[in-house]
Amino acid sequence: MEKFFITTPIYYPSDQLHIGHAYTTVAADCIARYHRMRGRDVWFLTGTDEHGQKIERKAAELGIPPRDFVDPIVAGIKGLWRRLEISYDDFIRTTEQRHVRAVQHVFQQLYDQGDIYKAEYEGWYCTPCETFWLESKLVEGKCPNPDCGREVEWVKEEGYFLRLSKYAERMLNHIEQHPDFIQPESRRNEMVAFIKAGLEDLCVSRTSLRWGIPVPFDPEHVIYVWFDAVANYITALGYGSADDSKFLRYWPANVHLVGKEIVRFHTIIWPIMLMALGLELPRQVFGHGWLVLDGGKMSKSKGNVVDPNILVDRYGLDAVRYFLLREIQFGSDGHYSEDNLIARINTDLANDLGNLLSRTTAMIEKYRESVIPQPGVEDELTMALRETAGRAVESFASRMEALELSNALANLWQLVRQANRYIEDNAPWDLFKNGADDRLNTVLYSLAEVLRIIAIPLSSVMVHAPTRIREQLGLTGEARWNETNWGGLKPGTRIARGEALFPRIETPKRNQQASSPGSENQISIEEFGKLELRTVRVLAAEPVPKSDRLLKLQVDLGEEKRQVVAGIAQHYAPADLIGKTAVLVANLKPAKIRGVESQGMLLAAVSDDKIAILTPDSDVGPGCKVR
Ligand code: MSP
Repeated sequence: MEKFFITTPIYYPSDQLHIGHAYTTVAADCIARYHRMRGRDVWFLTGTDEHGQKIERKAAELGIPPRDFVDPIVAGIKGLWRRLEISYDDFIRTTEQRHVRAVQHVFQQLYDQGDIYKAEYEGWYCTPCETFWLESKLVEGKCPNPDCGREVEWVKEEGYFLRLSKYAERMLNHIEQHPDFIQPESRRNEMVAFIKAGLEDLCVSRTSLRWGIPVPFDPEHVIYVWFDAVANYITALGYGSADDSKFLRYWPANVHLVGKEIVRFHTIIWPIMLMALGLELPRQVFGHGWLVLDGGKMSKSKGNVVDPNILVDRYGLDAVRYFLLREIQFGSDGHYSEDNLIARINTDLANDLGNLLSRTTAMIEKYRESVIPQPGVEDELTMALRETAGRAVESFASRMEALELSNALANLWQLVRQANRYIEDNAPWDLFKNGADDRLNTVLYSLAEVLRIIAIPLSSVMVHAPTRIREQLGLTGEARWNETNWGGLKPGTRIARGEALFPRIETPKRNQQASSPGSENQISIEEFGKLELRTVRVLAAEPVPKSDRLLKLQVDLGEEKRQVVAGIAQHYAPADLIGKTAVLVANLKPAKIRGVESQGMLLAAVSDDKIAILTPDSDVGPGCKVR
């Protein structure tokens, strides 16, 4: 059986992930599902990149060990992947022993053979990017990464260096001789230019931090987080361990899927490590584009991150998965907005696909007592529909193989739309009225057959809708790729009409309602997402001097303690509050109230004569997200 090994980047568990991270993982999941359906032996790997200064510092700020800091975040990431029904085969954490041991083994081997050597190094270091920069590259003395621009620090240390320069020529040749190695093409050109500008040896150890994998023969040094991270693609397969059967079976990777900003690590450093180890290089590194919002890139500091959980709650999993893959050309940047998501749902899903199913099943129910009829003679319109169906399946496949995910779906939707037109062109209601039984049978059969076929490729993108389509058509079991040929549906099958596949999302028509009361006060989900609401436990409370309204509270936010001033003194005695769990607006700018610092605001229901603090219905503990 042909194997197919696909990976996502391993994500930093420094914060919960957002829709941008979900985008990469959903894309990888869709590609993995597609190849599984094609009968390939698929291995789909994802995970978390848990070492490095950023995480060490965040944990230190909270006064907890880094491992305690990352554990709940990693649990949240796994929860998100469950929610998005990501069908990964393995999840690697770089703190796992299987990874640590194998990375040390790789480092040792490269050192023993002289590809890693010790030398002194000094330079400007950007901690958020975990990267050294040449002085000439800095922009106004700050990190030159356009998405960072933060302060850099002068770092001087002895370190271990990887001989990138020795392999530069071979690397360039490989890229030039394997046009598929870096995709899309624009990224390949960038990398070629980067290598041609000269590759310096890379410092692959640090002494400035402890939170990393120790250099096995010099434990004062920890291994550079990017060296550690990229190695996950082979350590997860058991490379360098007693059981390397998975490595032998799945390596080299068919595709490393990564965002465009980390293509460099994957197409220069990583392949050079592999060359030095005498291992095959991945077949392809695909650098996809970014999801950008109106205000630019999504980032925690801009407060514009979109939580995929909220989108799934609102719009359903299949709609979100479809939207991400259809809306953005895979490889280019794409604009994310909730309006576009709703437009896709209403047009492509509710109108085109949903209606096709509901009209087809309604007509079979009404005209043929819910039984799929034996088709009659095939007329021209039907022949054209059958041919489009065959072409749509074929081009879906070839687009998927080329990772043109959006185009693959666009092709499939041509078939959906043609099938809807086929209804209009044949006007089955007239055929029924006129007793044109033979033609009506052909039309109804063909519509059901098109839907059965559409559900097959669609099941690499969506996880529930294809099964629901099949159930409504009276079919059981999973869609299979070898059943895409026309004529698979058995006449006589009893259909089971069901609920709308994708209900329309009703939104107020903005233009018409622009002046209606209240609409100018509406906020979008992105705006709502800026609010960070969290549960807190009240640890201490006391009146604010010279105020009969204010109380000063000390609250526990799970990871930190805060002081909050609340105008509730007339409704609560300080002692009654202690131990209560409440809800805090955690990202409100700190303010001084009567000279007392308040770091956030407690939520309370306020009526004319009463104030009641909001508390969760059951004990969720402090630090829990509220949304
Ligand atoms: N830990 C490194 C990767 C190591 S791989 C050996 C890292 N992690 S990350 O948590 O910052 O995730 C980066 C990846 O998340 C990007 O490469 C990209 O795939 C995805 N995205 C993060 N934000 C994104 C958007 N706004 N849009 C699209 N993808 C984005 O870098």
